[in-house]
This record gives sequence, structure tokens and C-alpha cells, in this order.
Amino acid sequence: MTGLQLESISEWFDRFVASFTGNEPEQQRNYDLKTNHTRLVQANIERLAEHLHLAAADRALASAIAICHDVGRFPQFRDYGTFNDATSTNHASLAITTLKNEGILDSIASERSSILLQAVALHNVFILPDNLDPVVARFTRLIRDADKLDIWRVLLDYCTAEPEERASAVMWGLPDTGRCSENALQEVAAGRMLQSKLLATADDFKLLQLSWVFDLNFDESFRIVAERGYIEALIGLLPAHQDCREAIEVVTNRVKTMAGRI
Ligand SMILES: [Fe+2]
Repeated sequence: MTGLQLESISEWFDRFVASFTGNEPEQQRNYDLKTNHTRLVQANIERLAEHLHLAAADRALASAIAICHDVGRFPQFRDYGTFNDATSTNHASLAITTLKNEGILDSIASERSSILLQAVALHNVFILPDNLDPVVARFTRLIRDADKLDIWRVLLDYCTAEPEERASAVMWGLPDTGRCSENALQEVAAGRMLQSKLLATADDFKLLQLSWVFDLNFDESFRIVAERGYIEALIGLLPAHQDCREAIEVVTNRVKTMAGRI
């Protein structure tokens, strides 16, 4: 992909998001959240791509994948008023439909646009299939890490914002009971990533995001996690309850082990 092609996708994205306006400030906050998220995921992927010394054309492709990965969030929120895929629609599939309808990839070589579409389609699957083409797998891993690295920021911003300034759809409307559920704690304590179907409380949602440390692919991602202090900050938001101790310890050990490697 050329720099010019990337520029044209980036300009299209600005026009596309400008076509979504909320009647209420609360709606607009949710659109703005995804616009800012997209640009920060782009910055994350550019840092990872640079660190991996990708060629210029591959770096442009990685940036384009970041710009496109969440375009489904805009029609999802407009039509369903939520970011919870389970109660609405798969936002990655909606991104693919949107990108095709908008025709923004038509001028890009089909082998490149196919990589982009596959990476977008797979950015939110729980586990990647093992038989992926290695090039697709690499770009998919890049977007998955870059995305997680910014979702941690989104959650921390949400939890520390004044209630009236919060983008309401962040927590999927899960009840804030001040507790994590037992199933969720057991999964994380066993070193497994949490499946969204196990979420029952707002604190489970925080736990799910902590469990993403088991699914980061690049050393640079762990460096960014350490630099930005995401994990310590998220742990600080969990209930100070004895029940959470084991899960927290497993997450902390994973981050420490990975940090020791880099
Ligand atoms: Fe997404």
C-alpha cells in the first residue's frame, strides 16, 4: 500500500465519522470515543510496526488496518445503542460490510485489501485459527495488540471520569456490584483469557481486560504496557477483596515474566 492510498483511507475515515452525530451529548461521547480510539490504535500499530522494522508499504497497510478495524462501531452504536456485540451484532463483520459498501478499498491491490479485510474480521475473535496464512497472521496480531493497548486506556479513562462525562456504552451496561464473579476469577487464576459470555458484573469486565495479558504477541507491546502502567492501574480498580488475590497474582506474574524477557 502506498502512502497516498493510506492518506485517502484516512481522509475517508474523517468524512465517515463526521456523518455520525449524536442528538444527545451522551451519544456524541460514544462516537467520539471510537474516533479517538481508532487514531490511538493507529499510533500504537505504527510504533509496533516501526519496532519490527516493517517495510514502508507494510507499515502503511498496518496503519490502514488500524483505521478500518472499528468502523463497524459507528453503525453499531447508531442502530443498537451499544458496543456489546453479543446483544447487537458482530462489529467486525459490520466493518467489513461498511468498507465494501463504501468502496474505499477498490483502488488497492486485491492481495493487500484481502489481508486488510481478514485482519479486520479477526481483530476481535477470541482465539485465532491455527491455519492462518503467516502474513495475515502477522497483521492480525499487530491489530489485536494495538487495539488492546488502547482499550486499556479507554477503560481507565472511563473509570476515572466523572459519571456525567462517561461514554455510557463502555461497560456494556453490566451491573456494578463491587464484586467479581467466581467463574471469572477462576478462569483468570488459571492463566486463561476470559470469554465475554462469562461476564456478569462491571468488575468482571475489568478482569476480562486484565486477562488480555495472556494474549499479547509482541515484546514491544509488553514494553508499552509497562511504560503506561495500565496493569497496575487496572488492578487498583478491582475490589479490594481477598477473592481477587489469586487472579491478580497470576496476571502480575505474567507481566513480570514478559518484562524480564525484554
Ligand atoms: Fe473492535
